[in-house]
Amino acid sequence: MGMVSKLYLIIGCLSIIKGSPLLLFANRKDVRIVDGNNSRGNSTVVAGNLEDAAAVDFLYEDRSVFFTDVSQEMIKRTWFNGSEITVNVITTGLISPDGLAVDWLGKKIYWTDSETKRIEVANLDGSYRKVLYWNDLDQPRAIALDPLNGYMYWTDWGETPKIERAGMDGTHAHRSVIIKENIHWPNGLTLDYEDSQIYWADAKNAFIHSCKFDGSDRRVVVEGELPHPFALTLYDRTLYWTDWKERSIYSCDKITGSNRRVILRDIYSPMDIHSFSARRQPKDTNENACDQHNGGCSHLCLMSPAHPFYTCACPTGIKLKLDNKTCNEGIKLKLDNKTCNEGYEQLLLLARRTDLRRISLDTPDYTDVVLELTNVQHAIAIDFDPVDNQVYWTDDEVHAIWRANIDGTGQEKVIDNHLMHPDGIAVDWIGRNLYWTDTGTDRIEVSRLNGTSRRVLIAEDLEEPRAITLDPISGYMYWTDWGKKPKIERANMDGSGRLALVNASLGWPNGIAVDHAEMKIYWGDASLDKIEVANYDGTGRRVLVNENLPHLFGFSLLGDYIYWTDWQRRSIERVNKRSGIDRKTIVDQLPDLMGLKAVNLVKIEGNIFSLG
Ligand SMILES: *[C@@H]1O[C@H](CO)[C@@H](O)[C@H](O)[C@H]1NC(C)=O
Ligand SMILES: *[C@@H]1O[C@H](CO)[C@@H](O)[C@H](O)[C@H]1NC(C)=O
Ligand SMILES: *[C@@H]1O[C@H](CO)[C@@H](O)[C@H](O)[C@H]1NC(C)=O
Ligand SMILES: *[C@@H]1O[C@H](CO)[C@@H](O)[C@H](O)[C@H]1NC(C)=O
Ligand SMILES: *[C@@H]1O[C@H](CO)[C@@H](O)[C@H](O)[C@H]1NC(C)=O
Ligand SMILES: *[C@@H]1O[C@H](CO)[C@@H](O)[C@H](O)[C@H]1NC(C)=O
Repeated sequence: MGMVSKLYLIIGCLSIIKGSPLLLFANRKDVRIVDGNNSRGNSTVVAGNLEDAAAVDFLYEDRSVFFTDVSQEMIKRTWFNGSEITVNVITTGLISPDGLAVDWLGKKIYWTDSETKRIEVANLDGSYRKVLYWNDLDQPRAIALDPLNGYMYWTDWGETPKIERAGMDGTHAHRSVIIKENIHWPNGLTLDYEDSQIYWADAKNAFIHSCKFDGSDRRVVVEGELPHPFALTLYDRTLYWTDWKERSIYSCDKITGSNRRVILRDIYSPMDIHSFSARRQPKDTNENACDQHNGGCSHLCLMSPAHPFYTCACPTGIKLKLDNKTCNEGIKLKLDNKTCNEGYEQLLLLARRTDLRRISLDTPDYTDVVLELTNVQHAIAIDFDPVDNQVYWTDDEVHAIWRANIDGTGQEKVIDNHLMHPDGIAVDWIGRNLYWTDTGTDRIEVSRLNGTSRRVLIAEDLEEPRAITLDPISGYMYWTDWGKKPKIERANMDGSGRLALVNASLGWPNGIAVDHAEMKIYWGDASLDKIEVANYDGTGRRVLVNENLPHLFGFSLLGDYIYWTDWQRRSIERVNKRSGIDRKTIVDQLPDLMGLKAVNLVKIEGNIFSLG
């Protein structure tokens, strides 16, 4: 009989013993369960051979356990029905998933990440993942749900320690700080559904306190004598908690703090804890709003504190339509291994040295999502073919040009010989050709999109050719050169008719973009720290931005905005292309930012030629 089937028997037996909960706890190298009276004197492994299991929760209904492994940066699920199955639920875009909670009514998982500084939600299988909160989060840790009332609660032990409450639907209307005084390292948090109370443990203040759901009526449960309380849970009148320093699980009366007992000692490293019981996941007397046809929602149906007590929501980066029920549809994108029909309208594609990412511009969270590619070693330049929805990028380490579908599938090398430093790339989406610059060979070359019919277009008088962009409608290509005599040049797309448009007051012109409709060229200079604009012929030159541009690198134009990456600020920003104002940071504190391409995916008939 396997370990898990044995456990199944234990659960079977204990579920008939009243007043004796099972305690589920994460123990870094495994997840365990212990009888709350500890009548057997030891604990049993639920999931073993883990690297760093930190947070844990369960869905009693199907006896499944969810846990985070902060070292593997994953969320996993296991069942103890005798099958010994463990599946990966979330495998990308996590750094330090410290808190986890299961919505047993809506069938969702919620989690915190203290490094990405986000609170997210997904279906139990990891699909339809969405960022719910991303502002004013510093070090979010424990998270607890009250799906009966549509609220979630979390602790934040960052610069301004606090406990917050917000709607489980991610709307901002119901978010508020409920505890901000006398709080330092709020670790664990648990809810008492019977008495409508919150309990939390503060490791610095060495206490466990409680209050009402709105933060009022704060009380002391245990104070000033706890070495390092971490997580806590409730069952009936009993409070259970883990202590890091003592490496033990304790219990006491939830109101008086009396009857203190040690449940289990000499634990490897006790982390999160839950009493594993149906009573900790009470059912609503009424049917919940999401039960009937998913609330009419095309994707996520999330519990909400306000009438009609649910909200339809879309996976990260996808807009909800005006009916407030259906998500935008578009090209097929693979999201976390699940193929979906959701549609993005506007995206940023980002080359980030060892990966490529996409950032939706449709929703305000601007979450960056890594494309599932292999062997990205030093990606520099990036462009997009709006006809086949393919991403093209150069790699300075592998000395190759690659392409892949926008969902990361179909990755293939397009050019892999006679390349030294291909630092600029441009797709001719009309002629179906690929253009690139090479600062090593000092050439500009062209080939078909699949790499055949390769040809050198310009090989003379190039010092350090960098950015390249095309206006296939006018038949021009534009490029920058940051050599000893920096310049911006133009030629016909076959290399003829070469002309220096700008040859004065340039340093390192790193980025270039053209605006066919307004007949303008824009460029960014990483030495003079400026973004400038001029007419197509180089006349009418003027400065758009000359502040806080320490090292501009990637550069792209879409609609009314210029987008750029900055090495030093580790940011992606945008500014209005006409006024140079309305500046906004899209992404902050992301290192190794290289090329950037802003893309419009909405294909209106006849509009394709204005893309790119
Ligand atoms: C477990 O402990 C509870 C509370 O201390 C008690 O009521 C119950 O009888 C105990 N059960 C067993 C099997 O010891
Ligand atoms: C406790 O340990 C004994 C032997 O060390 C083992 O037979 C028993 O199954 C364990 N009980 C639990 C609840 O893990
Ligand atoms: C256990 O649960 C898993 C997941 O729901 C299921 O695939 C499996 O068939 C179940 N096994 C048993 C023995 O019930
Ligand atoms: C959708 O939600 C918005 C904002 O809550 C509201 O103003 C609008 O009336 C809703 N539309 C429909 C069709 O319900
Ligand atoms: C490459 O593309 C060209 C034109 O698009 C096509 O004619 C040719 O057959 C393709 N070659 C290969 C090897 O796919
Ligand atoms: C710079 O460009 C101007 C105008 O095109 C031209 O007259 C001048 O000779 C160029 N200077 C150099 C050094 O190339």
